[in-house]
Amino acid sequence: MSDRPKILVTQKVPDPAYPPLTEIGDVEANMDEGVIWPYEELLRRGPGHDYIYSLLTDNIDARFLETCASAMPRLKMVANMAVGFNNIDVDAATRLGIAVSNTPGVLSDTTADLAFALLMATARRIPEAERFLRAGKYRGWGPLLFCGVDVHGATLGLIGAGRIGKLVARRSTGFDMKVIYYDVYRMPEEEEREYHLTYMPFEEVLQMADFISVHTPYMPSTHHLISERELNLMKPGAILINTARGPIVDEKALARALQAGTIAGAGLDVFENEPAVEPELLSMENVVLLPHIASASVRTRTLMATMASDNIVAYHLGQRPPNILNPQVLG
Ligand code: DGY
Repeated sequence: MSDRPKILVTQKVPDPAYPPLTEIGDVEANMDEGVIWPYEELLRRGPGHDYIYSLLTDNIDARFLETCASAMPRLKMVANMAVGFNNIDVDAATRLGIAVSNTPGVLSDTTADLAFALLMATARRIPEAERFLRAGKYRGWGPLLFCGVDVHGATLGLIGAGRIGKLVARRSTGFDMKVIYYDVYRMPEEEEREYHLTYMPFEEVLQMADFISVHTPYMPSTHHLISERELNLMKPGAILINTARGPIVDEKALARALQAGTIAGAGLDVFENEPAVEPELLSMENVVLLPHIASASVRTRTLMATMASDNIVAYHLGQRPPNILNPQVLG
């Protein structure tokens, strides 16, 4: 029997991810583009692999990890091709001695680009105007046609100002925006100066901003961080942008707030129960909806894909995986 490690890749990923894996081990891969294995299939296929190359659509929970840890070969590592890792029970993995890695950094600029594009698209009603034109409804320039709100000079409120939040702030300075932020970690003054950021308490950011952009990780403490109370604090003309994780925003409360005119619009790249979207949002013109594509540039997805492979290869070679989330398992 081969002593090469067994590696499972759960979705089709960019091509450059595979050669480093096939060099060190025997790879079983889902090559059906766009096909996401349901949990039961993952549970059937996962056990008996040394390494699992996972995506954010895989529910790597304690049951799955325990099943893989009691199979032969025993699971050694889960390498997630995403910066977010809320799909993985990292505590359970750590308890079982299974390493977990993610892909931070390489997607920050691309995600910030999309967050800003979504902000502009929502403010200036770009998808709505395009739908109108394609439907053959454009009869000529009109003084009232698709008037939106100005982005330049407006106040942007960041909820979470880590790597991606800061890069959104950097983009907004070109639009003369004032940027205020709330984060559980207040950054040093020199960094605030560098990014032209003003720290404020959470409620004040919500009350003062024309645009709120969410950039916190998803964890129990950020579940429904933006819900009815927070939406009520926002300005009636405010626009909410979420490119982080869906469940940070209470989607039903958001739909109600948009319908009632509590806030003016929303740009969403992520949803509470992906791929499902709150049905009411689908019919609202003041909402821009995207299928979780913030990091989707060819270059960035390729970098993410190879980064996940590199983590597996490093572990296999007895090196510290560069993006390990639970280094304590390395002893
Ligand atoms: C991530 O990496 O967590 C994004 O949501 C997808 O790129």
